[in-house]
Amino acid sequence: MEIFIDTANIEQIKEAAKLGVVDGVTTNPTLISRVQGSFTEILNQICKLVDGPISAEVVSLDAENMIKEARNLAKIHQNIVVKIPITKEGLQAVKVLEAEGIRCNVTLVFNSMQALMAAKAGASFVSIFVGRLDDAGHQGTDVVRESVVIFRNYDLKSRIIVASIRSPLHIVEAALAGADIATIPFKIIEQLVAHPLTDIGIERFSADWEKVKTRT
Ligand code: G3P
Repeated sequence: MEIFIDTANIEQIKEAAKLGVVDGVTTNPTLISRVQGSFTEILNQICKLVDGPISAEVVSLDAENMIKEARNLAKIHQNIVVKIPITKEGLQAVKVLEAEGIRCNVTLVFNSMQALMAAKAGASFVSIFVGRLDDAGHQGTDVVRESVVIFRNYDLKSRIIVASIRSPLHIVEAALAGADIATIPFKIIEQLVAHPLTDIGIERFSADWEKVKTRT
């Protein structure tokens, strides 16, 4: 499973990239609003740090303007993937953009039929928001499981991104379901590495090594 980092924070992207586990980056207007600098400037910086798909979202709601925005975003760097919400206008934009070779990440997907529609329109990526579904009292992972099976049944090429991740358990579930990608906040990437027994083990080994060191 590929790991994307879900942030526009340059320091976090740098830190995570050093770990050698980051295959791409996803942003959205909320994540961009949390950092300083112009949208283009931020995307340029991110593209220098990670050599993989970098998602940047359009804010227009009609197909014509989504397409205009997407074309401008795609000019920033060849790795830019344009994030487009799953609406009728969004699907029209995806069809046009993918035909031009501009990759789209259809976002705000909350059920497997929306995922199917995005895949049918030719989206390169489909983002399922598991955390927001859980928040609303649903099982976000069910949508991932269903979508994985449906895409396999019909050999649909879109790649499934599990987004809106709230805990390491979401990533275990995404991996077991066979999702292609999980896009993960920095704090949770850190949690994926840590275990209290690892810390205790390191402490013990270090303490025992201190005893060995003094041997002549
Ligand atoms: O990238 C979009 C998605 O991951 C947003 O997550 O936490 O705002 O539901 P959240």
